[in-house]
Amino acid sequence: MALTVAAQSLGGWLKEADRCVSIWESRWGPYELHPSLYVDHEALSASYEAYVNRLTENYPFFHPRYAGQMLKPPHPVAILGYLTAMRINPNNHALDGGPPTAAMEKEVVTELVRMFEFPEPALGHLTSSGTIANLEGLFVSREQHPDKRIAVSREAHYTHARMGYVLGVPVETIPADPHGRMDLNALEDVLRSKEIGTVVLTAGTTGLGMVDPIADAIPLCRQYGVRVHVDAAYGGFFRLLCNHEILDPMVSRNLNAIKDADSVVLDPHKHGLQPYGCGCILYRNPEMARHYLHDSPYTYFTSEDLHLGEISLECSRAGAAAGALWLTLQLLPLAADEGLGPVLSACLEAAHRWNAALEDTPLQSWGKPDLDIVCYYPEAKSHSASEIDRASQALFEHSMASSTNPIFLSILRVRSTDLRIRIPEVEVDQEHVRILRSVLMRPEQAGFAESLVNCLVGFMQSHDH
Ligand SMILES: Cc1ncc(COP(=O)(O)O)c(C=O)c1O
Repeated sequence: MALTVAAQSLGGWLKEADRCVSIWESRWGPYELHPSLYVDHEALSASYEAYVNRLTENYPFFHPRYAGQMLKPPHPVAILGYLTAMRINPNNHALDGGPPTAAMEKEVVTELVRMFEFPEPALGHLTSSGTIANLEGLFVSREQHPDKRIAVSREAHYTHARMGYVLGVPVETIPADPHGRMDLNALEDVLRSKEIGTVVLTAGTTGLGMVDPIADAIPLCRQYGVRVHVDAAYGGFFRLLCNHEILDPMVSRNLNAIKDADSVVLDPHKHGLQPYGCGCILYRNPEMARHYLHDSPYTYFTSEDLHLGEISLECSRAGAAAGALWLTLQLLPLAADEGLGPVLSACLEAAHRWNAALEDTPLQSWGKPDLDIVCYYPEAKSHSASEIDRASQALFEHSMASSTNPIFLSILRVRSTDLRIRIPEVEVDQEHVRILRSVLMRPEQAGFAESLVNCLVGFMQSHDH
């Protein structure tokens, strides 16, 4: 089915949003905006022009040429959903802050619970980010095992070590294998210490986009009575493609195993097509709600139903974020062959094609991607880690600076010893080496992968890296 609403054609829908909200507002009788809130039309024009001009300094996150960080604009339907609710500005903390968007939040959380096949009823809510969602997951872990440590892979997002510090819980780092997945033997060594209360596994590491061996790690953790928290902020939505041949069977098995975890974090503002301000935490055991118990003299009086603020560490949260996700999922449901599934499989295809296009070029793949993040480095003429490091940085800068055909990449710092596993003869003359990283989260990039890689090779040759 053809997508008929593109970002460029949102205008009519935004007028419709204005019309609908204005009709709703008029139900409450006439009133005048207080004069203190008036702004001068010309002053607004001038400031708005300055504002828009400053925004043009952004990189083109929407475009296939942007193959850098985990960043892309929301789907037009999410923009429409967000802006419409934002006009009303509901707060999903207490039910009186916005009953409809609170109900929508509960509905989308149920859909996400079903996507992971958590037993129902599970517990969960949206958060303003993956960081806060992980903080909540680790907070509950600490309450469950107050005297124990948290173990995370060295490839886990830095937020886990940081939030461990915030929560006052010691964090143990577990080595990863040369691909960037948690090393199970090292995990078992750490579990034997009996000091670990929770293990954090990652589905889609931030750097390399790898999926930890979740299916084998969970039974191991159970043997030692340890909780499992999965940080699927980036890769969680790929769970939809578990039975799809585009996903490597090992990756499918590990994403499928998330259903046996104790808690999982997912970021709809990454692969769920949402604007920033939309993370999510889910717990398989609804009894974890007890850790959120608190008393508020200001809220929770309008209804006996669950107020989302009663099961969340944050207070105010945008109801618009829940509304936008709800509306998006009406049109792009959580399914493999329609809705979000084809978006994600095109991203995987982009990564496979990008990785394949590196063959026979002076750019070497760091390894087959698990998801849609490809890492690579310029090897030609480079015999040492420092030369590869410099060549990566130079290509990164040159490709972005091109006035005619810029390509936007990102940089990842890896261990030189992991480089030596790939190039045994390389001279390890520094501890770390910068390599190139492309997050291919735009489905359109499937049709651009080869030409963009060719372009990068052209930059290399013209600058003689
Ligand atoms: C695996 C993972 N966890 C957590 C985060 C932090 O999420 P947020 O940026 O939404 O706070 C990120 C962000 O890139 C991530 O990739």
